Amino acid sequence: MSITEQIQNIRIEFNSESSNFKSKNSGLEKIRIKYLGRKGLVAQLFQLMDSLDKNDRPKAGQMLNSLKIELSEKINNLEKSEKQIFLNPKEDYTLPGDPITSGNIHPLTLLLEEIKSIFIRLGFSIAYSDEIDTDFYNFEALNIPTHHPARDMQDTFYISEDILLRTHTSNTQIHYMEKNKPPIRIIAPGRVFRNEDISVRSYCLFHQIEGLYVDSGVTFSQLKGTLDFFAKELFSKDVKTRFRPSYFPFTEPSAEMDVSCMFCSGNGCKICKNSGWIEILGCGMVDPEVFHCINYDTEKWTGYAFGMGIERMAMLKYGIEDIRLFYSGDVRFLKQFK
Ligand code: PHE
Repeated sequence: MSITEQIQNIRIEFNSESSNFKSKNSGLEKIRIKYLGRKGLVAQLFQLMDSLDKNDRPKAGQMLNSLKIELSEKINNLEKSEKQIFLNPKEDYTLPGDPITSGNIHPLTLLLEEIKSIFIRLGFSIAYSDEIDTDFYNFEALNIPTHHPARDMQDTFYISEDILLRTHTSNTQIHYMEKNKPPIRIIAPGRVFRNEDISVRSYCLFHQIEGLYVDSGVTFSQLKGTLDFFAKELFSKDVKTRFRPSYFPFTEPSAEMDVSCMFCSGNGCKICKNSGWIEILGCGMVDPEVFHCINYDTEKWTGYAFGMGIERMAMLKYGIEDIRLFYSGDVRFLKQFK
């Protein structure tokens, strides 16, 4: 191979090696030693000069010299650009970092946790049952037989003649009593479904919390005391409660509990329709018919039950005017709840 070819080969090798060069001083130093060191590739070619024809020597010497200058310039440039990156980085590392945003707890979860903790302090435990259930647990066992007009109170999604999406969490009462003996003191949160038109006030699904207390000698005044305490804990100490007679097939007597309007302190406003009161839940003493159905001795056991809608409570507590916001997934809405 002629000296010219050898010079060209070194140039090609150097170019490919230095273009792969990324960083680290030590790497650059290795390249310098390999090509320009005392025993480097260029020095080795200089040693070949003696063996060349006299006439060829000046030209070869010139070519070798310019190769030496070329390589050392390229190495110097690489070194400079490496320093440049270090001294003038594209990023300004002194800038504060991007804030790390974390998710928020959904207002319904937030409220549910708060309601649970109030009842847990009162000695209640948590129970769950299925969202898809049979007619028996959702209606029949709760003293709502097939052609009972009370079925019209809750528009039901049927899956088959006998299987449906539960319309209330009261089905958990039956499931729980079937499997457990009194004393029973549970709350049962969960999702319920009703075939209602979607509007500002109603949605085809929502959440409820059921309460059930069964023991010997349970009284209506215990029910009132418990729910009054609950309302004061959840809204504020100044909130007043009142019980209005009502009707549910599975409680007797039945009542609805109102709280004094927290928006106008009971003076009357748009939200309480100028009555000063807002209805928040249904309740009553467990009807003996329900106990018969699951073979509880009605001479021995008495109980109370209550049920409330979580969306409704959240709307009151957080001042939310449209129930659909809970299911919109709108981050601007969700971000407001800490
Ligand atoms: N299940 C009733 C409803 O959905 C509420 C309720 C529960 C009433 C327990 C009384 C006792 O409207």
